[in-house]
Amino acid sequence: MPDGAKPEVSKVIVRPARAVRGVVRIPGDKSVSHRYAMLAAIAEGTSRFHNFSAARDCASTLDCVRKLGCEWKRLNDEDDRAIEVLGVGTRLHAPAEALDCGNSGSTMRMLSGILAGQPFSSELCGDESLSRRPMARIMTPLSEMGARIASSEGGRPPLKIHGGPLKAIHYRPEVASAQVKSCVLFAGLFADGETVVEEPIRTRDHGEIALRAFGAEVERTGNASRIVGGQRLRAIEAHVPGDLSSAAFFLCAAALFPGSQISLPGILMNPTRARLLEILMQMGLKISVAHLEEHQGELVGTIEARGAAWKGAVIAGADTAALIDEIPVLAAVAPYTDGGLEVLDAKELRVKESDRIAAVAANLRKMGADVEERPDGMRIPGGQHLHGAALDSFGDHRIAMAFAVAALRAEGETAICGADAAGVSYPTFFEELETVAGR
Ligand code: S3P
Repeated sequence: MPDGAKPEVSKVIVRPARAVRGVVRIPGDKSVSHRYAMLAAIAEGTSRFHNFSAARDCASTLDCVRKLGCEWKRLNDEDDRAIEVLGVGTRLHAPAEALDCGNSGSTMRMLSGILAGQPFSSELCGDESLSRRPMARIMTPLSEMGARIASSEGGRPPLKIHGGPLKAIHYRPEVASAQVKSCVLFAGLFADGETVVEEPIRTRDHGEIALRAFGAEVERTGNASRIVGGQRLRAIEAHVPGDLSSAAFFLCAAALFPGSQISLPGILMNPTRARLLEILMQMGLKISVAHLEEHQGELVGTIEARGAAWKGAVIAGADTAALIDEIPVLAAVAPYTDGGLEVLDAKELRVKESDRIAAVAANLRKMGADVEERPDGMRIPGGQHLHGAALDSFGDHRIAMAFAVAALRAEGETAICGADAAGVSYPTFFEELETVAGR
């Protein structure tokens, strides 16, 4: 690129639809894929994963583990989602350069737990968005365990981690965060006793389930997860279930039009993620789940959904934590509901890949909607008519996709600028949306 030239901003035009119909094969879950890649790196033997997430975020994790001496490769040329990770056992190799986590908070926060227990120093950096995100939440427990961690001002990346032998702690995080929980449990593998994480609200438990799949013992009592250090992990073979948070975009799209019908096979049904389905049903979407199975401790099923009425909801407390990744799309389609949407207790939304409260409010207003923005939430009245507009993704994958869905029921075309952000979790999202949008 010539000096001074700006990178081209990708733009996608979304036209209104009349219904949404079809079958969508949703790529592998991002949360599960990150954890599988990290644990496979420190396991003994070669792990194989099918339907591994195609997300740019998970590619960041794979790049980082390679820089730590763990090789991985595609199983064949036809399927870029089938990979093999050659575990190096508990000891990784000191990286020759900084570990670039790209846009991925999950990579930085969870990998830090493993790096804290390694006998070398490492540096973790990220893109502009990640460089603004809070890391004190992992620095505090890891420092308590004995790692030395330096950050930029205010606990922001880059992080410099001087790892070594760790001591077990009983940690009670202030924020409900599954990334923090996994980080501390992963560090607990390298600690000298039993590490406990007692969460204020139950968060997704993929870390615990993945650790067990790799052969570790992890106990769960009430809101506390416990792991004893020194356990060795064994390689696994696993099929990653479809990402429910990506499925959410298609479910919300179906909810917009009575008469829509969508089928999503092989989706992650982990109860700590599935609150979304209950809320959508409460809001009027008809949902049934078939072919329930368990893969490596994770529930998987086929979701069939039909659009019917579209009512409002209030999301607060534990629900806000459980739906944190889906609130952007629920909010983007809220003006089309009968009763509107109120989101409370959601200040975490302000420190995601973008300030998601501000981003949702800005885009909804551009589409002509009335929205009340609050420090820790928002209220979006129902029964509104939106028009197409030029919107911004704010560099945030979930904002780009949420507003592509909202655009399906707007009057006129919508342009999503910075649409390539979707690739952070779902590179083929816009193509898939186009195949199911009936016009
Ligand atoms: C994730 C946990 C959540 C979620 C993120 C993925 C995980 O973040 O928003 O997309 O895989 O553990 P927090 O831990 O910050 O709540």
